[in-house]
Amino acid sequence: MSGATSLTAANPAAQHPQQAVPHAAADAYLLGGAGREVTLRANEAAWQRLGWLPRVLATPTAVETTCELLGRRWPTPWLAAPMAHLRLAHPDAELALALGSAAQGAGMVLSTQANTPLEIVGQAIAHDQARGPLWFQLYPYGQRDDWLRLAQRAQRAGFEAIVLTVDAPVQWSHPRARAAGFALPADWPQPNLPAPARHGSLDWLLQTALRWDDVAWLRVHCPLPLILKGILHPDDARLACERHLCDALVVSNHGGRVLDGLPPTAAVLPAVLQAVAQRIPVLVDGGLRCAADAAKALALGARAVLVGRPLIQALKQGGAEEVARLWRLWRDELAGTLALLGSKTIADLRASVLYPHVNGSAEG
Ligand SMILES: Cc1cc2nc3c(=O)[nH]c(=O)nc-3n(C[C@H](O)[C@H](O)[C@H](O)COP(=O)(O)O)c2cc1C
Repeated sequence: MSGATSLTAANPAAQHPQQAVPHAAADAYLLGGAGREVTLRANEAAWQRLGWLPRVLATPTAVETTCELLGRRWPTPWLAAPMAHLRLAHPDAELALALGSAAQGAGMVLSTQANTPLEIVGQAIAHDQARGPLWFQLYPYGQRDDWLRLAQRAQRAGFEAIVLTVDAPVQWSHPRARAAGFALPADWPQPNLPAPARHGSLDWLLQTALRWDDVAWLRVHCPLPLILKGILHPDDARLACERHLCDALVVSNHGGRVLDGLPPTAAVLPAVLQAVAQRIPVLVDGGLRCAADAAKALALGARAVLVGRPLIQALKQGGAEEVARLWRLWRDELAGTLALLGSKTIADLRASVLYPHVNGSAEG
C-alpha cells in the first residue's frame, strides 16, 4: 500500500452500536434505489454497453494514472462519492472509507449526513501527501448562515472544496428499504448536520428547497471552490457556466436513489460536456463498477469519477483494508487499460477508442 496514513486508526466516534439496524434492512437502504430501480439498473448497463475499439502496435512505453483537478495533480482520477449513514456498513464508517481511499491515492467526498464528525476525517487524512482530493458534500439544512458555517468548519478541518448536491430537494424512503422495514434509530449520530434534520412536510420542503439564487449566494460567500453535484440537463450545465456559479460539476442521478426514470449518466455525459465546452471540469458518477467503466467515462471527456456502492460492499467486507484493496485493483486495471488503449496518460484517452454497442444492444 502506498500513502502515509495507517489504515488502523481507531474512530473515536464509533461508539454507537452498528447493528441497531438489522443487516437486511441496512442493505436495502444502502444498495437499493428509488421506485422500480430502473435508473439504478440503467446506470450500470449503460457503461457495460460501451466497449473499446483501439488500434494495435501503439503501446506506450509507460503509463500514468494521475489527474489534475482544481489546480492540483492527484494520483488517481476517482473519489469516493458522498454517502450517508455509512455506519450501517461498518463501525468505522466514513473514517474507514477515508483511510482506505487515501492509502491508494483515491479522493473522498464526505457527506453532510455522515456518522463521523468531519474534523475526525480531516485529522486522519488531510496531511497525507499521497491521498486524493478531500471534499465536503453540503446539503442545505437550516438557513444560509448555517450552510456557510458548515463550509467554514470543513475548510478549517482541511477540506478543499464544497460539493453542493442539487438533485435531491425532496427525498422519501425507497420501496426496497420500506419493504425491509428500514428505519434509523432515534439517536443515530449525524454530527455534521448544522440544524435539525429535515423532517418537515412536503410543503415545507418545497418552500425551503435550494434555488439558483442560493447557489449564486453560496458562490460569493463560500470560502472554498464550489462543485455542483446532480446536473443532468445540458441547459443547467450551460447556466452554471455562464453565470460562473461553480468551479466544477458532477453529472449524477444520485445513483438512481432520488427520481426513478432519470437517464443513465453515461448517456447524458456527452451532451453536458458539449454544453460546458471545457470551461470547467466535469465529473460523473452512477453505475461505475470497475476501472474500465471509469476509463470509459474519462475517454468520453469526464475529468474524474465518483464511486458509490462498490465501496459500500468493500466497507461491509473488511473496512479500510478492503476499501484500499478495491482501489488498488482499480489502479492496476486502469494502468493496464490505458496501456491496451495506447494511451500514456488519461489526458491522451480519446472517445475514438470507444465502441458503442459492445453487447449488441440497439440502444445508444
Ligand atoms: C447509501 C448511499 C447514500 C448516499 N448519500 C448521499 C449523500 O448523502 N449525498 C449525496 O450527494 N449523494 C449521496 N448518495 C449518492 C452518491 O453520492 C452517488 O451519487 C451514487 O452513489 C453514485 O452511484 P453508484 O452508487 O452507482 O456508484 C448516496 C448513495 C448511496 C448508495
